[in-house]
Amino acid sequence: MTLAIETEGLSRRFGERLAVDQVDLQVPTGSVYGFLGRNGAGKTTTIRLLLGLLRPTAGRARICGIDVVRDRPAAARRVGALLEAQGLYPHLSGRENLDLTRRLLALPRGEIDRVLELVELRAAAGRRVAEYSLGMRQRLGLARALLGEPSVLILDEPSNGLDPEGIAELRGFLRDLPGRSGATVLLSSHLLGEIEQTASHVGILCAGRLVSQGRLDALKAGLPAELLVGTDAPDAALAIARQHGFEVEAGPEGLLARLAAGEGIEQAAAALNQALCAAGLRVHALVPRPRSLESLYHLAGADAAPSPAA
Ligand SMILES: Nc1ncnc2c1ncn2[C@@H]1O[C@H](COP(=O)(O)OP(=O)(O)OP(=O)(O)O)[C@@H](O)[C@H]1O
Ligand SMILES: [Mg+2]
Repeated sequence: MTLAIETEGLSRRFGERLAVDQVDLQVPTGSVYGFLGRNGAGKTTTIRLLLGLLRPTAGRARICGIDVVRDRPAAARRVGALLEAQGLYPHLSGRENLDLTRRLLALPRGEIDRVLELVELRAAAGRRVAEYSLGMRQRLGLARALLGEPSVLILDEPSNGLDPEGIAELRGFLRDLPGRSGATVLLSSHLLGEIEQTASHVGILCAGRLVSQGRLDALKAGLPAELLVGTDAPDAALAIARQHGFEVEAGPEGLLARLAAGEGIEQAAAALNQALCAAGLRVHALVPRPRSLESLYHLAGADAAPSPAA
């Protein structure tokens, strides 16, 4: 597996605050890597470190094998980026904004129309950016990131300001990008649903630390499955299930049994059903709950309350 983005012990301190703490990112080439974390987790800071816009306090980062501190220009040539503050010139038109970057990268003129087409901004390209809606600015920022077909795209909260239709289009676009061009995409988000539907890989950042990372399907497969159990005697069912070694708790929707990692859900459901029935209880529901990114996020502790320092 080759890595498009790799960091080792990447850290950044702002005064007393460790915004990024010993982060080892591994973003495989051709992946769509969802970089998740709540507000203040350190996503933007990590991204700025990856782009060489901030100096790390410790550790290092490589893009396509190139050290971003030691050889920033070479690393930068491989990357297209969309940041929170996009740095667009409001008094220039969309096309003129793109032209500035195009000239900087010494790309042919045709590139501008190509990227405008991709983000469906052709009709508005002649208008001043000051007149753009937030979603249009976000699209223009994305278009600029796509100039020159970079091998790595780094997008900080790309769906900010987009309407549901725009979000769905962006999702499809990003999902197809590696297959179409071989590019690698890292996108940050605090929206689990967005990452779940877009990413092949995830990294979960919590108070500056990377608490989970890997292929999304593998991480989900490793999660304990959950069974929702409906009975007419929840208290008795709880006791009986525990006697039979199930990890159960009473939830608002009924009993929730959490299986051991890797335990087959069918066997567990059958065994639990049998135990409850043998004790004379009536079981009216046994519903497997799908393993989700949400449970992963929860089990990684990433949804815990932020520390006072955050
Ligand atoms: N230039 C700076 N000076 C001081 N502190 C900073 C600076 N930039 C970021 N921080 C702090 O670092 C922490 C991480 O911030 P960061 O912007 O990376 O979070 P984030 O995950 O991008 O959050 P959000 O989802 O809100 O965009 C925060 O506590 C923030 O206050
Ligand atoms: Mg941010």
